[in-house]
Amino acid sequence: MSRFQTKILGTGHYVPPRIMTNEEISKLVDTSHQWIVERTGIHERRIADPKVDIPSTMAEKAARKALEAANLQPNDIDLILFSTTFPDMFFPNTATQLQLKLGITNGCGCLDMNAACTGWVYAFTIADAMIRSGMYKKIMVVGSEMTSGFNNWKDRNTCILFGDGCGVTILGQVPAGDSSGVLAQVLGADATKGEHLMLRGGGAAIPINETNVGTDVQCVVMDGKEVFKSAVKTMAHHCEQLLSDAKINMDQVDWFIPHQANLRIIEAVANRFNFPLEKAVVNVNKFANTSSATVPIAIDEAIRDGRIKRGQTLMLAAFGAGLTSGGILLKY
Ligand code: ACO
Repeated sequence: MSRFQTKILGTGHYVPPRIMTNEEISKLVDTSHQWIVERTGIHERRIADPKVDIPSTMAEKAARKALEAANLQPNDIDLILFSTTFPDMFFPNTATQLQLKLGITNGCGCLDMNAACTGWVYAFTIADAMIRSGMYKKIMVVGSEMTSGFNNWKDRNTCILFGDGCGVTILGQVPAGDSSGVLAQVLGADATKGEHLMLRGGGAAIPINETNVGTDVQCVVMDGKEVFKSAVKTMAHHCEQLLSDAKINMDQVDWFIPHQANLRIIEAVANRFNFPLEKAVVNVNKFANTSSATVPIAIDEAIRDGRIKRGQTLMLAAFGAGLTSGGILLKY
């Protein structure tokens, strides 16, 4: 039994101002607003202007809001865990770029993490373990994603799904027995299904060269049906495990905050538990799938508009390329 627990001290999010509607996408590929809304629930998404916003700059804006909410200064942060699938650059890592932009001078550790759309849940879980062990007191957990950098604007199967944005959560150490804390967590991956969702080029396996530049090796490729099936099955399974580990039932969960990939996936998981959709935090309609930023953006929105209150029980669940997956049950 640890002497410490983890509390969410503050949250923030940022999305780029440029809105891209379904109508606009229907001018690029053979699709329609109606098809996209019926199959995904997405109405619009935000797209970053790379001259203004890249993962670290979006993170700076979200992090400043989270610091203000937590009533902390940048130098109070002991560690930055930065989840992104599309970093500013290969190295230095994007966490260090955030340290620089926030003006942190305490030399705090900086680590990038990539578990695709599940990345922020992985980072949160690792941060929680570090806080409970007594290793760190305040950890900034970031999910910042510029999916427009790998989106294929010629592929209607994928380009309708993604958007850009960032969510930041600051986790802090509180004594065991505090009303806030993590009740249960689960992480997973099924690499045998990895081929269903990939961005193959740009690394050591397929470097970008003059013969493949501009081809789909630089873009996301996906078998949507397979990802859909796995997402519903895995997230439902994780939710069951979280409830069982924490010895509570779904009626005791105040808010379900799932990865925002597709409204039908969220509905299918909620239906498995007869969980009312009104108690799920949903923003896929306006931001689409911002990969590992969806859950922290959704949490921040619901805290700021007063839906999520201190003492409530939150169930978080995510899945992504890998196929990775994870869930967290916590008292806010
Ligand atoms: N507009 C119009 N028609 C389309 C479009 C489009 N944008 N996209 C596909 N279609 C067509 C297909 O070509 C197909 O036509 P056909 O029957 O003539 O072959 C038809 O619509 C049906 O296609 P399906 O793939 O069966 O459509 P489905 O109902 O499965 O919806 C979707 C597709 C929205 C992609 C869905 O499968 C999905 O959301 N899957 C999960 C994807 C996901 O969440 N990915 C992100 C993972 S997270 C991460 O780590 C990045």
